[in-house]
Amino acid sequence: MKLTFPHGFFWGAATAAHQVEGNNHNDWSEWELVNAERLARESEQTFSWNPHWQRFHAEATNPHNYISGSACEHYTRYETDFDLAASLGHTAHRFSLEWSRIEPQEGEFDQAAIEHYRTVIQALRARGLEPFVTLWHWTNPTWVETKYGNWENPIVGEKFLRFAERMITEYQDLITFWAIFNEPNTFVGRGYIRGDRPPARRSIWRARKAIKNFHHTHQKVYNMIHMHQPKATVVLSHWFAFMRPYKNQYLVRLIIPLLNYFRNGQFFHNLEDYCDAIGVQFYRVDYIRFGGWGAWGAISPVPLGEWQNDLGWDLEPESIQSVLENLKKYHKPIYITESGLADATDTNRELFIKKTLQSVHRAIANGIDVRGYFHWSLLDNFEWSEGYWPRFGLIHVDYTTQARTIRPSAQAYAEICRTNQLTIDTANGSE
Ligand code: BGC
Repeated sequence: MKLTFPHGFFWGAATAAHQVEGNNHNDWSEWELVNAERLARESEQTFSWNPHWQRFHAEATNPHNYISGSACEHYTRYETDFDLAASLGHTAHRFSLEWSRIEPQEGEFDQAAIEHYRTVIQALRARGLEPFVTLWHWTNPTWVETKYGNWENPIVGEKFLRFAERMITEYQDLITFWAIFNEPNTFVGRGYIRGDRPPARRSIWRARKAIKNFHHTHQKVYNMIHMHQPKATVVLSHWFAFMRPYKNQYLVRLIIPLLNYFRNGQFFHNLEDYCDAIGVQFYRVDYIRFGGWGAWGAISPVPLGEWQNDLGWDLEPESIQSVLENLKKYHKPIYITESGLADATDTNRELFIKKTLQSVHRAIANGIDVRGYFHWSLLDNFEWSEGYWPRFGLIHVDYTTQARTIRPSAQAYAEICRTNQLTIDTANGSE
């Protein structure tokens, strides 16, 4: 059976500056230097419950794993990387601008960095790839942290506005699709509640302030984009936390709506009128149970479902259908701006993609206006506080030689991109 996607549906992959570019100097790179040894030391405790631990423990216990360093050298290799994306039938690409490169000192913009991203955008267009630009994907220039703290301080929002305005005026003729902040909920959950990633605060009060700051700044940037470009599409990027009560426990069922508000609802609050499309980022299901520490954005301490990725995340790609259908009330177009899995052996990626897309197609058939899919990620890359061992790429990266190797799943995805169709093969279990 062949499932055809709507005409003009965008097919592509996503990346983020700090995870692929290499040699960035920002608040994250500073944090890595201070924390790499500790992360390596604690990895046994953090991950030994993971059924895949033996396969990656040599990497995970090595402090180098936690330092982004030269990453994929995508800053200089973007043209050949985009050649690969185009050769795989992609028609769009999502990437982010690195604030710390563009404004390395407060108020001093680096024209060479601005020109660099212009050539990146042009390189995408030259290959027929529609650029989806994210203005901020979790990293700040170091002066933000040293002078102003972090996103809990409203001044940081003001500083970001100036940066955003410059970006919009520089690239307005080249960009139609903008995302402002990547997943503020993940950033706040990890950086302010669990406190295991920058800015490592652990304070509910500061988390609230950061959320407010993201809201206000988002609204202002949205208006700014539309003032310059009335026809632009601003996509609201959000990690959709999808929770189930473990073993359907009654009491847990009662608290899920509350968790839903903390992890999803409060991030949408007041933004309905400040986005033109919703960017769905969906990876996994979180089983919630009493006694576990999984309530806020965390993975379950042990995998509880039937299918896991290398990080031990419980996979349930079919559930993207209800995530999409729950968004119907907003009456906005939807782009899947991230979906993917850590799968170093590429055993599950093709099936995961096909199951996801089959469910996306069902949602479309039920009237949901989905207009594109961006697989996370184009390349293996620096997976934040987990470092390099989790491999999310359609393309394998050898971090010693920087050689790129297209994985078989990328070829299967390419077939879908080229034909705008998903062929359901009942034998491989995707139906
Ligand atoms: C982020 C990516 C990250 C991916 C996998 C998303 O939350 O936007 O930067 O690599 O998930 O963890």
